[in-house]
This record gives sequence, C-alpha cells and structure tokens, in this order.
Amino acid sequence: MTWHAVAALAEFEDRPVLAREAEGQALALYRLDGAVYATQARCTHAGALLTEGEVVEGYIECPLHYGLFEIATGRAQGGPVCRDLATYPVRVEDGQVWVEIA
Ligand code: FES
Repeated sequence: MTWHAVAALAEFEDRPVLAREAEGQALALYRLDGAVYATQARCTHAGALLTEGEVVEGYIECPLHYGLFEIATGRAQGGPVCRDLATYPVRVEDGQVWVEIA
C-alpha cells in the first residue's frame, strides 16, 4: 500500500471530477460536499471514462450509457451497470490530495 499525491484541492474549482493516474491505474477523483473520493476511472459496464461524465447529486453518471454509481461507495445503481467501482482511500493534507493504491 502506497500513498500517492495526485492533485491539488484547488484543481476542483473548475470541475467536480478529475482524471488522474497512479501506479498505472486510471483514477477518477471527486469533490463532493467538502470531501474528496477516488474510484477507478473506467465504467464497469463497457469501459467508458467516468471522468467525462456528470456528477449528479452524489452520483457519477457514465457518459456512454448513463449508468449511475454512488461516488462515496462506488456502488452501481441499476441497469445497465451492475458491478461496483473499485474505491480508494483518500486523505487531504495542506491542500494536497493523496490516494492509497494497494
Ligand atoms: Fe458506462 Fe455503459 S459504459 S453505462
């Protein structure tokens, strides 16, 4: 398990979801209600990039077939998505966002 500095908190000013990579894994970072969350970046349905989707009331909406995942838990919320997203521990220190990758 290693912590990686992946973004500055200020980068969320323009957009609530950011695309990042750490240890070869594509990540989606979200700023939601003052907290930061991290999930895998690819949709579990057909692999679309969730970082190009829209954040809607605590969910990320896939840009390809509009599947929804709960951001805080990665939980798939019904068709066409049925497999949850991997999630990653996040911590924020001095305006820097860190993600732990196993
Ligand atoms: Fe995301 Fe199909 S690729 S819902």
